[in-house]
Amino acid sequence: MPALPADPQPADPGLDPAELIDAVPPATALAKRRRGGGATPRPPAPAPGVPRADGAGARAAREPARSTAPKGIATGHTPVLAAELLDLLAPAPGQTVVDCTFGDGGHARLVAERLGAGGTLVAIDRDPHAQARFDALAAEVPCAVRFIRSGYAEALEALGAEGVRAAAVYFDLGMSSMQVDARDRGFSYSYDAPLDMRMDPTEERSAREAVAEWDERTLARVLRDYGEERHAGAIARAIVRRRSERPIETTLDLVETITGAIPAPARFAGGHPAKRSFQALRIAVNDELGQLDRALPLAWSLLGVGGSIAAISFHSLEDRRVKRFLAGRAQGCVCPPELPVCVCGREPEAELLTRRSVTPSPEELAANPRAASARLRVARKLREEETG
Ligand SMILES: C[S@@+](CC[C@H](N)C(=O)[O-])C[C@H]1O[C@@H](n2cnc3c(N)ncnc32)[C@H](O)[C@@H]1O
Repeated sequence: MPALPADPQPADPGLDPAELIDAVPPATALAKRRRGGGATPRPPAPAPGVPRADGAGARAAREPARSTAPKGIATGHTPVLAAELLDLLAPAPGQTVVDCTFGDGGHARLVAERLGAGGTLVAIDRDPHAQARFDALAAEVPCAVRFIRSGYAEALEALGAEGVRAAAVYFDLGMSSMQVDARDRGFSYSYDAPLDMRMDPTEERSAREAVAEWDERTLARVLRDYGEERHAGAIARAIVRRRSERPIETTLDLVETITGAIPAPARFAGGHPAKRSFQALRIAVNDELGQLDRALPLAWSLLGVGGSIAAISFHSLEDRRVKRFLAGRAQGCVCPPELPVCVCGREPEAELLTRRSVTPSPEELAANPRAASARLRVARKLREEETG
């Protein structure tokens, strides 16, 4: 059974990067889809994927963000909201920073250049392909580096147990362009491939096992809660029917089953008919929300006073969790309003550096349509959390 959220709420699939493989909407259309309406503070729009031209970031500010991919490995993840992330986290020489979702190292490279020789970058990724990309980056950046191949929840727990203290911890959630574009990994409904979708291929359950084993109710719930799929019940029924005849082995087997279950007039109403189901299965197979729920408090505990946490989300299920977590830390007095004076004595642990989420500028969206639906939230730790 997949780990379902305690308070399942529909996802807003936004623009799943997989949707953009074949169809790149015009920049103006994407700009109109921006929500959140800006930041506090909102940096002026710099070139996408680069920091402001100051100090160690100056070289990067003149060049497009580089991929860390060594020769022979597919390139291609453009870091999203990179200038905004850097501006808000403001990594400084000598600090320790934890990148929980290393991917292609786009954000990590920009951060590492700010940390200088006395700093340390800890990079985490559960995808084994990230290791080679990390090795390439490690040879080039000035700071000390360390890679942990694991789910970020487990890695953050291990770092906490080691007594690591960080000045910043950040997450760039979801999947990388390399994962979507690797035809054999089964993330995309656009290529025929074994139905897999595991970010960590050593995990036991792939999407193939999920659609083969989960009962109809579970399938429908996953599709509805993680994909906001209106036809979740019909698709789940069609999966169960189809697998009783022959197994669903490939992405296109699944696409065919999903498409056939959606009434013809509604099939292409909301983008590709399989978009929402693929997102839902990917979230469930990789326990993405369970990882995030466990990781946020662990990341917070790792921060020293004055340290910052940041998360870039790509759909509302993630963003809502981040927002709720940070708002809880930023809350002060919780006394009932009828009390004339505060008796709880509770002080905020966090200062929100983004009162509303930061969204990509029209320039960034024009250059990188996969940034659509990205939202960044950042908070700074004001004091140690209460224990016990
Ligand atoms: C959007 S990409 C990050 C891209 C990166 N910031 C860059 O600039 O290249 C997300 C990465 O996080 C990894 N990832 C997602 N969930 C994870 C988890 N729970 N634990 C560890 N890594 C995770 C994925 O394997 C993927 O490589």
